[in-house]
Amino acid sequence: MMRLGRVAIDPSLILAPMAGITDQYFRLILKRIGGVGLVTMEFISSEALTRGSEKTRHMMQFSEEERPLAIQIYGSQPGRMAEAAEFVQALGADIVDINMGCPANKVLKGCAGAALMGDLGLARDIIRTVRRSVTIPLTVKFRVGLDETRTNFLELGRICEGEGVDGVALHARTARQMFAGRADWQRVRRLKEAVSIPVSGNGDVETPADAWALVRETGCDGVMIGRAAVKNPWIFRQIAAGRSGAAPQEPTIEERRDLILFHFSLLREREEERLALHKIRTFTGWYTHGLPDGRILRQKINSLTSVSEFIDAIEEFFQVLLAA
Ligand SMILES: Cc1cc2nc3c(=O)[nH]c(=O)nc-3n(C[C@H](O)[C@H](O)[C@H](O)COP(=O)(O)O)c2cc1C
Repeated sequence: MMRLGRVAIDPSLILAPMAGITDQYFRLILKRIGGVGLVTMEFISSEALTRGSEKTRHMMQFSEEERPLAIQIYGSQPGRMAEAAEFVQALGADIVDINMGCPANKVLKGCAGAALMGDLGLARDIIRTVRRSVTIPLTVKFRVGLDETRTNFLELGRICEGEGVDGVALHARTARQMFAGRADWQRVRRLKEAVSIPVSGNGDVETPADAWALVRETGCDGVMIGRAAVKNPWIFRQIAAGRSGAAPQEPTIEERRDLILFHFSLLREREEERLALHKIRTFTGWYTHGLPDGRILRQKINSLTSVSEFIDAIEEFFQVLLAA
């Protein structure tokens, strides 16, 4: 269990924010599977939000079932970030999170995301202004620094602590690394030693054993998982169950099939057919990763254009697996 301000995160396992992935459907799926203590929305542009973008507001829908839920915002103007945070609070989110780790060019050029690590004065200003504007818990997610010559994560962590931030998450890579190399968990440990607010470790947790190793090696309060949760949405449940040292229970073939069909049904409720099919194709690719003949299925569904064809293809694929 971990506390982020008044919000208890139990178990202290967090779904990392991932643009294009951690939408409402995926968050709901993880909640239904269980084991996740906090889910995070895809990042929200404070500029788009405060200029009244309908698309952005649409992205921000969530349901009670997802609680506790964090909404992450990014931007480089303290005033707009504060306004965006107020919107997040008014919407009823449990936690507002500030992105200071995104290395994407689109975001960096606007001097948001990880670029803020290159200007800690501005970073502090944003944190302070946002902190004053909301009463819900505030967290900040960042990287080690811009590159190996500028590793200022400890300094940023101390700024967060000094400004009343309720918890931080460290993706233990530099911005320059993007996703290359390995996350350096020793830096999570150093951050944990440097601040007294809760620290979540993030980067390269691929298996339940990794999650336990991260906690053991760093003393971190929370474990945040991104990419591995897309390939294996059961990972949180497996970690939570594995506390006793038991081997992780793999999902059954039926569970995998039902996951895909459930995800598709959620998409179809809200999205038009083409978009629903587009999204489910992408996720099916991840969900069938490593299954025998998964590649054949992925090729097949690429050319399908109707709901019923897709469902038939999935049923057929899994029937063969079940019969094997
Ligand atoms: C497709 C994708 C989108 C991401 N979008 C965001 C984002 O919106 N905000 C953010 O803070 N990090 C984002 N990240 C970074 C993840 O939150 C996480 O820090 C990173 O993937 C490392 O954790 P992992 O090794 O468990 O995946 C994204 C990562 C991926 C792969």
